[in-house]
Amino acid sequence: MKAFPDGFRHLPAYLDIEQQRALVEDIRAVVLAAPLYIPEMPRTGKPMSVRMTNCGTLGWVTDRERGYRYQTTHPVTGTPWPPIPQQLMTIWREVADADVEPEACLVNFYDDTARMGLHQDKDEQDLSAPVVSVSLGDTCLFRIGGTARNDPTQSFRLNSGDVVVLGGRSRLAFHGVDRIFPGTSPLLKNGGRINLTMRRVNRTAQAETLP
Ligand code: SIN
Ligand code: FE2
Repeated sequence: MKAFPDGFRHLPAYLDIEQQRALVEDIRAVVLAAPLYIPEMPRTGKPMSVRMTNCGTLGWVTDRERGYRYQTTHPVTGTPWPPIPQQLMTIWREVADADVEPEACLVNFYDDTARMGLHQDKDEQDLSAPVVSVSLGDTCLFRIGGTARNDPTQSFRLNSGDVVVLGGRSRLAFHGVDRIFPGTSPLLKNGGRINLTMRRVNRTAQAETLP
C-alpha cells in the first residue's frame, strides 16, 4: 500500500450502528424536503449515475447549461436547501480541524450500478477547510490519487459508518468511486449507498481581509 497524500484521513467505523441509523433518519427528512434528482454533466447534458440533493445554506449542482456551481436553492423545486443535520455538524467539528463551519453538504445516492469518475472538489473558494465525507449503506471501492490527473492512484473500500477527510495537501486530490458492492450492508432497506460530503465554500469575511 502506497502512502496516502498528506492531510488525507480514513476513519473506519467512525459512526456506530445507532449513529448510522439516526443519520439515515435525518437524511430521509432532508430528501423529503429536497428530493434526489439526476444531475447532468456540463455541456454534454449526460445524466450522472449518482442521484443528488443537498443540505446547508449552499448546495452543489450541475446541469448542461450552467455547469458545476453552488446555489442556495434546489434546481427542481426552487426552494432553499434544508439545514445540515446536527449530527453531521458535530462530525465536522470533531474531525475538520477548521475554524469555519461547512456551508454545503452534498447528498449522493448510489444504486448498485452507480459510480463516480475521478475528479477534484475545486468549486469552493475556501480551499483551506477540508472536505469531510461520511459513508452509509453498501460498501464502495473508493479511489484516490494525487493533485494531477495522471498521478498514481490507489483504491480501498469504504464501509458504512466510515469517515474520510481530504485536507491539507490532499484537499485537491483526485478521487472517485469505482463501484458499489451490492448487499454488503443492511442499513438501507432497499440497498445502495449514501455519501454525505460537507464543504466550506466561501472564505470568511475575516479571511478576506488578510493579505
Ligand atoms: C464525491 O466525491 O462527491 C463522492 C465521494 C464518495 O461517494 O465517497
Ligand atoms: Fe468529490
